Amino acid sequence: MSPSPSALPFDGAISKFFAEATPEDVRTAINGNGKKDILETDYPYEARMDRKEYEAELEALQMELVKLQADVKETGKRVVVVFEGRDAAGKGGTIKRFRENLNPRVAKTVALSKPSEREQGEWYFQRYIKHLPTAGEITLFDRSWYNRGVVEKVFDFCTDPQRDAFFRQLPEFEDMIADEGIHFVKLWLNVGRAEQLRRFLAREKDPLKQWKLSWIDVEGLNRWDAYTSAIDETFKKTHRDLTPWTVIRSDDKRRARLSALRSVLQGIEYAGKDKNVACAPDAKICGGPEIWTG
Ligand code: ADP
Ligand code: AMP
Ligand code: MLT
Repeated sequence: MSPSPSALPFDGAISKFFAEATPEDVRTAINGNGKKDILETDYPYEARMDRKEYEAELEALQMELVKLQADVKETGKRVVVVFEGRDAAGKGGTIKRFRENLNPRVAKTVALSKPSEREQGEWYFQRYIKHLPTAGEITLFDRSWYNRGVVEKVFDFCTDPQRDAFFRQLPEFEDMIADEGIHFVKLWLNVGRAEQLRRFLAREKDPLKQWKLSWIDVEGLNRWDAYTSAIDETFKKTHRDLTPWTVIRSDDKRRARLSALRSVLQGIEYAGKDKNVACAPDAKICGGPEIWTG
């Protein structure tokens, strides 16, 4: 790879963190780096999924998404999928596979940046509501209102009363989405610490991926545990009957992407559905918050 642009304020910070790190999990990350076939010890699979197998399953699932798209347009369904997870959990890559063969007018990604001054003065949910789908649309939220549950807590971007109001209002807000008849799915991509570090390091080295790193990622290196408790609280307060979380262990990106596609497809009816393809996701890596590893 060519030398990285050095204007980045966090240039080298990830490698520096690695170099100075002592905890066991960071050592694992260092040792694992370069041995891409070895996942963390408690991951239910020893090796990452074979590429050929992955590509065949992905293609079949993407065919199902195309059928879903036709059905959504035909019947005026509305679909919302929220993608959440720690930095480098694989949200962007998973969303990319969802949209790869879909019409961008039907399947839209919403990836909002930090609230503007005007937005800061609004009701917290207001700027997200503007992006909810109309009939015939599938909206994929790359991060969402759950920022207030997690990153805003970890970085003190909101006050405690704002956070309390968020958790108080959220059940009603999400119940309204479901009650409206919008097909609503919440996916949590669960990346382990070693794999997150490996991905940060890979991003830092790759000029095509450096844009994915932000000071939040660098600062977040020392805040793993603060994230863990904010995520734990968020699950406890927001995993509900009508609007449950689906947790996907995403250390192996391939298996995670297939499970994410299946999690969406299996819960929704559409013309021509092939239930052998759009089947239940892999229960070893996909379930409720009980399979979350921290
Ligand atoms: P991403 O990982 O989504 O590319 P970052 O890691 O930089 O982006 O930031 C994580 C999230 O924190 C983003 O959704 C971003 O909008 C949000 N965020 C960053 N700064 C602030 C802030 N000052 N107030 C509220 N949210 C913020
Ligand atoms: P990507 O997000 O596809 O660019 O992957 C980032 C890095 O993770 C690359 O170096 C990949 O080789 C590695 N990686 C992710 N998933 C797998 C997998 N299933 N098998 C092998 N390598 C993988
Ligand atoms: C990704 O891998 O796309 C991430 O989940 C986005 C991020 O780095 O925050």
